[in-house]
This record gives sequence, C-alpha cells and structure tokens, in this order.
Amino acid sequence: MRRRPLTPRADDAAPEPSRRGTEDGVDRSSPRLRAAADACRHALRLAWASAPGLALAQTLLVALQALLPLAAMLALKRAVDAAALLARQGLPAPAEGMPALAVQLLREPASRAVALWFVAGAAVTATVAVLRGLLAWVAEQHAMAVSDHVHGLLHAKLLEVDLAFFEDSREQERLHLVQSQAMTRPVGVLGALYQLLRSAIALGGVLVLLALFQPLLALALALAGLPALLLRLHRSRRRFQWRRGLAPLEREAGYFHTLMSSGGAAKEARLNGFGGFCRERFGAARSRLREARLVWRRRVLGEDLLLQLLTLAVAAVLLLWMTGHLAAGALTLGSLVMYVQAVQRGQGQVGNLVTAIVDLHQAALFLTTFEEVLRQPARVTAPVNPRPVPAPIREGIVFDRVGFAYPGTGRPVLHNLSFTLGAGERLAVVGANGAGKSTLVKLLCRLYDPTAGRILVDGIDLRELDPAAWRQRVGVLFQDFGRYQLTAAENIWIGDPQGAPADARVAAAAARAGLDEIVRHLPQGLDTPLGRWLRPGVEPSMGQWQRFALARAFLREAQLLVLDEPTSALDARTQQALIRLLQRESAERPALVVSHRPEMLAWARRVIVLREGTVVEEGDAGTLLRQGGEFARLYPEAGGAPVTA
Ligand SMILES: Nc1ncnc2c1ncn2[C@@H]1O[C@H](COP(=O)(O)OP(=O)(O)OP(=O)(O)O)[C@@H](O)[C@H]1O
Ligand SMILES: [Mg+2]
Repeated sequence: MRRRPLTPRADDAAPEPSRRGTEDGVDRSSPRLRAAADACRHALRLAWASAPGLALAQTLLVALQALLPLAAMLALKRAVDAAALLARQGLPAPAEGMPALAVQLLREPASRAVALWFVAGAAVTATVAVLRGLLAWVAEQHAMAVSDHVHGLLHAKLLEVDLAFFEDSREQERLHLVQSQAMTRPVGVLGALYQLLRSAIALGGVLVLLALFQPLLALALALAGLPALLLRLHRSRRRFQWRRGLAPLEREAGYFHTLMSSGGAAKEARLNGFGGFCRERFGAARSRLREARLVWRRRVLGEDLLLQLLTLAVAAVLLLWMTGHLAAGALTLGSLVMYVQAVQRGQGQVGNLVTAIVDLHQAALFLTTFEEVLRQPARVTAPVNPRPVPAPIREGIVFDRVGFAYPGTGRPVLHNLSFTLGAGERLAVVGANGAGKSTLVKLLCRLYDPTAGRILVDGIDLRELDPAAWRQRVGVLFQDFGRYQLTAAENIWIGDPQGAPADARVAAAAARAGLDEIVRHLPQGLDTPLGRWLRPGVEPSMGQWQRFALARAFLREAQLLVLDEPTSALDARTQQALIRLLQRESAERPALVVSHRPEMLAWARRVIVLREGTVVEEGDAGTLLRQGGEFARLYPEAGGAPVTA
C-alpha cells in the first residue's frame, strides 16, 4: 500500500477544481496578515450573529479588564514615587501606637499620598478580580451560543444538501474536518477574538504609557513582536494543510473504532474473529497519526526555542538601558518600577496578541472549510417557476433514454433506460444485483437528476418540478430503510411529520401496514420506544422494522408508490398480506416495486428486466418466463405463482 506523506507539505491536500481558490480554501496570493484580518471579520460576524447582547457585554468587560491593570500600574508608580519622597523627607515625629500612627500618616500630605495611591491600586486590582469572574460567566454563555449557532447552520445545510454529498468520500472528508472541530473551534474563535481585543487594548495602553515617557522603549517593544507574528502565521497555514492531509487517516481510524464499538459488526466480528484485524488497522492508522504529530512537534519546538531567546534578549537590552538611566539620575524609582512592569506586561501581551492572531488564523481556515460546506452547491434544485406536481397522475411516468453516472465516478450505471409506468399500473423492476434498480428508484424520487435523457410525469420533466413538492407526493420504501430510535408512533409519523404522532392517521397507517398485532404486543402500544440504543426500548425483528418503514410510506397522500424490495425481510404470510394491501393501495395510483420474490413479480401486471442499467425484457411474468431469456434465467421459479389481474 502506498503511504501518503504525512509531514506538513504544501501539496498535502490534492487540489479540487470545483472549489474556489486553493485546496485549503485560502487565496494564496493574499498576504498572511490579510488572511488574519479576514479571520477577524469571520469571527466577528460569528460572535455577533450568535448573540449580540452577549457579544456587547463581553466586549465591554474585556476592554475594562485590559485597561484597568494600566491604572493599577500608574497608581503603583505614584505610590512608589511618593514613598521615595517620604523616605527622603521622613516623618517629623512618628506617633506611638498603630492607630495614632495611621492618623498621623493620613494627615501628612507626603504619607497620605502613599496610602491613597496604594489603596487606589488595590481597589483597581480587586475590581479586575471581580470582572474576571463575571467575564468567565459571560464568556461561557457566549461560547455556547456560538457553538449552537454553528451547529444550527451546519444542520440546516446537512438537511438541505444533495444525497450525493453523503455518497462522496471527498465531501465526507470535508465534513469530517468541520465536524471534528465544530464543538471546539467556534469556542476557540470566540476566545481568540476576545484575546485579540484584550491584548490589543492592553498592549496599546502599555505602548501609549511608554511612549509618553520613552518613545524608543515603546518602538522597541512593538518591533520585537513582529518576527514571532510572521513566523507563527506561516506555521499556522502549514499546520492546517497538515491537519487536512491527516483527515483520511483520522476517518479510517474512526471507521475501525466504530466497527468495534457499534453493534452493527459485533456479531460477525465475534463469529468470524476479525476483531483483531480491526484493532490492527485502527492501531496502524493511529501510529501513523502519532508519527506525523511527532514530526510536526519536533519542527515547532526548534522554532519556539528561537522565539523565546529573542524575547529574552529584548528584555535584557531594555533592562540594561533602564538601569543605566536610573544610575545617571534620568529616571525616578517609581518610573523604573513602572517601566519594568510595562515591559514585562508588554512582552506578555505581545505573546498573547500573536497567539490570538494565530488562533484566529487557524479558526479562519476552519471557518473557510465550514463555509465551503455551507456553500455546497445543490445539483438537484427547483427551477425559478416550478410546475405544479400532477395530482393525481393521469398519464403516467416515462423514463426516456435515461443515463446516469454517480458523481465523481464517470462510470454509467444506467444508460438508454426507457420504460413507462401507466397511471394506476403495477410495475415490477427486476434484474441481477447491481443492475441499477435502486439507482432507478433514487432518480425517480429525484434524489439525483439523470446525466442523460429525462424522466417525465404526465409529460412534465421532473426537473421542472420543485424536488421537495415532488418527493412529498411519493410514498417510498428504500432498500436500506431507516430504523429510528424513536417510539413506534414516531417511527411512522416521520413519514409525513404533520400534526402529532398520536393522531389517528398514524394508527391507521400502522393498521394498513399490518402492524396491528405487533403493536398490540408492545408494552406501551404505539408509545413504546423502538430500539435499545438511546433507552431500554423494544428491539423489533428485521421484518417488523420493515413493516414500520412500510407504514411510513403509506402515511402520506402519495401519488406514486415506490417500494424497493418491500418484502425482503417479511415471512410468507406477511408477504401475502402485504400483496393484498398493495392491491388496495395501488388501486388508484401507480406503483413501482423492485423485488426478487416470485410472489411480488406475480402481483405486478408488468415486469421490466434490467441488465447493466438498461431494459432488456418487458412483459408479464408468465410471458417472460416462456421467452426463456434473462428473466427465466434469474427467476425460474416465478412461473409457480399466478399472475394476479
Ligand atoms: N452511491 C454510489 N456511488 C457510486 N456507485 C454506486 C452507488 N450506489 C450504487 N452504485 C453502483 O451502481 C450500480 C447499481 O447499483 P444499484 O444499487 O442501483 O443496484 P441494484 O440493482 O439495486 O442491486 P441490488 O439487487 O443488489 O439491490 C452498482 O454497480 C453499484 O456499484
Ligand atoms: Mg438495490
């Protein structure tokens, strides 16, 4: 197996022509600082859109938190200078005893100044501490709001995208990146945004303070941060590309983890003993991920060490310079204390500012991927002026030389597929595995559009209809029907989620799908939770699940019934009951059924036989059998059942 390079390299993620910009979604021509500015814009929009009130409150608190320490620094300077003056002058005659001494200190102007400035400094420091608690609370609320907002956007999009999105591994990779960070990144974006604001205000304050007394000091401090900023921004982009390159491996590890942890494969894993193989594959993927992380860490460590040395060197030079000035009498003691504090704080804030900008840059790369998912173009869309869906269908449905290849495969699955389904007709579609039957069903439900030819309903191309309006009129049972961890009533109700699950029409659909007896045996009837994944409910058998799926299909006022292998999990008696039911259900509407079961074939008035995506035989089951072609080869036993008129 060829191993993908995992070290951070510009070409780690393959370019994708269908996307704007480059593979990491960032225009390479844009300077890094502009990308960081874009990041700010993105983050601001997100912070504001999620909760404007909380955004304002947090901004105000952060600004106060950044500015107040400067006031504390100024107060300390004044206190130290006043104390130095007091030390030089001394008190005239210090009073005996603490209370008397305190009164005397407050009376004397020199000592009063010392006391007042210390108290002012302490008050400011206490306020900062109170603000910190308040800010933590507001920040937590805001972070949750941002996270929920991001999830809201993502969910809305996921419910709206084409089915193709879920059947394309590249899209799933993109989604994996977004999903794996969707919980943490938005909170990170917010944290970085406010850290940026806090550091910018705090650093700005320090620089202004220094500039008032020593402009050169301010300039040196500001310039010292620049190399770190540029280096770490550059690294941030590399990190994202590196992370993106790891997505397939992370998904692979995740897949084998799911195989071992979910119930789906538990039986086969035990019986066939492939658990060890899953562990190996998981372990191999994880060890490659670890190896990639190690390479990355090593590289980063060296760069960080250099940056630390640079910071230390700048601090040393500034300290030397200040000490020289103090010795020469050009600085007061209070000023020295303030400068030392300012430089220390300034350097800390430069570091915080760089970290915040880099975090925002990272977040922007995440947001870019997120927006790529949000911008996912829909291929199956409604025209500007959709035609009304024919109800009832009077002429029927026509597949007119339909061709189809799944996106990104280039391999035609259907080609030149033509057949008609008359109004009120019962049509069975048969063919060997992989012949394209389920694909035909997806096209008929307009989950995909044909790549060639057209599908007409009463002479109207399906593409001229609003897909949602059309789907609303189709009662469908998919081959891989859903088994939902909901109550029995909800499992049916979601087939047409209007009104309430307790409505009589839900019970009626259950009865039509032959669920009466099953429901009677459920402990809480239709209110019984099905499945045992979320709570200790009742686990129906596969055939019972299939009947719930059928009830879902029967719930809505469908113009067309489409059933893909509706009896694959049903026993013979239930199948007979279903056939009788289908006879009633399809009396006034066309029905298309995919099935390999002879009884179902006999029920249909007409059968079309698919081979490699095209119709090779057509007629009633008896005639086809007599012809001795593909149908007779596939279903030699079909003749045993009578063809119901
Ligand atoms: N999501 C997909 N992406 C790419 N190819 C697909 C996808 N789904 C199915 N195919 C391919 O399309 C062809 C037809 O598949 P389809 O599921 O329509 O067959 P079928 O006739 O329903 O088979 P079966 O009797 O096994 O249900 C197969 O070759 C399959 O590999
Ligand atoms: Mg199928």
